[in-house]
Amino acid sequence: MMELTQDILTWVHGKFLRTQVHALRMARDQWRTPLRVGIIGCGTIAEVHANAYRAVGGLKLTACVDIDAERAEAFRVRHGIDAAYRDYRNLFGSDRPDIVSICTWPSTHAEIATEAAAAGVRGILVEKPLSVDLSEADAMVESAEKFGAVLVVGHHLRFDPLVERARRVIESGQIGPPRLVHVYCQGALLNTGTHAVDAVLLVLGDPAAESIFAQVVVTGECRERGLPAEDACVAQLRLAGGVTALFETGNVAREKFCIHVVGGEGQMTLRLDRLDVLRRGERGWQTEVAPTVSPHERQAEALVRATRDGDRMPQSNARSARRTQEILIGILASAAARRPFALPLEDRSLRYAELLERLR
Ligand SMILES: NC(=O)c1ccc[n+]([C@@H]2O[C@H](COP(=O)([O-])OP(=O)(O)OC[C@H]3O[C@@H](n4cnc5c(N)ncnc54)[C@H](O)[C@@H]3O)[C@@H](O)[C@H]2O)c1
Repeated sequence: MMELTQDILTWVHGKFLRTQVHALRMARDQWRTPLRVGIIGCGTIAEVHANAYRAVGGLKLTACVDIDAERAEAFRVRHGIDAAYRDYRNLFGSDRPDIVSICTWPSTHAEIATEAAAAGVRGILVEKPLSVDLSEADAMVESAEKFGAVLVVGHHLRFDPLVERARRVIESGQIGPPRLVHVYCQGALLNTGTHAVDAVLLVLGDPAAESIFAQVVVTGECRERGLPAEDACVAQLRLAGGVTALFETGNVAREKFCIHVVGGEGQMTLRLDRLDVLRRGERGWQTEVAPTVSPHERQAEALVRATRDGDRMPQSNARSARRTQEILIGILASAAARRPFALPLEDRSLRYAELLERLR
């Protein structure tokens, strides 16, 4: 109980300080030249990005792009943006944005992000999944580093206070060393599965992934977010330190999204709206509900701070997302070959579509 009270006091104090710092920064940003922001792909998630940038402040949405001209124009009008284009190269050429959000379909992420970095865009927020193929993920990491761009990936759970809290529960040893993790996610690997894998890594303190062994069902009938997808998957991920994470994803998963960690001194269950912790010696489960903070706003703010102020690289970056992508591709490769695969994957040419085809 003492520990919990201390935790709450630390959290309240931290929140007070963060609020003050945020207010000071907002006041300072009012006097600066606004950063120019372009949004590429004007669909569902682009709305969330536009609203998040507006909330962060100190920015100007100057252009939007969609291959569907009507969509781009409607988005431009809705958000009071100056220009709308059909080709993102026009945005890089004439608009000179400081920051771009890439909110297009996954198969386009790598091409647009590498061209953005080469065109001198300093801050790039690319939606999840990072890419489709592993070689694309490698190219994205390489180009961001070569051209010095800050590349943030939309694994927004990394900016969710409840997920951060779960990480602190593990880090502070409240449930002892993690031994086994069960993960349930009712979505395809390259859709919500990428959030599940990434959040597990975050919660456990980003340990190195050592090996993957999986079985995957592919009927050919499943598509998610414009990509052909597997129907169901069970996978065993071995992490450094001897922790095993067992994944159930797709239509067999028993919960929408859940990460359950069994530790030596207790247990912890993280869902999207609540965190339950059971510590040895305490009477029962302690529950925390999610605070009403937008992870998308925090994500946009982290990108802006890193791009403009040189703050540290946000924790959802090209390298962290590549590790997640590697596990997703590793799951399909292991299932197709019917054997465990060591991570990082040696064969960088493994292709998502070919692996799915082999699994049908
Ligand atoms: N972080 C999250 O929780 C979250 C939620 C939803 C979607 N997403 C991700 O965001 C991305 C987009 O998903 P969505 O649901 O918004 O899709 P959507 O279909 O609603 O919007 C995508 C838009 O991109 C446009 N587009 C496609 N290729 C383009 C190109 N080359 N140039 C310009 N425009 C192009 C399409 O015309 C469409 O309007 C996906 O990668 C998806 O996984 C993430």
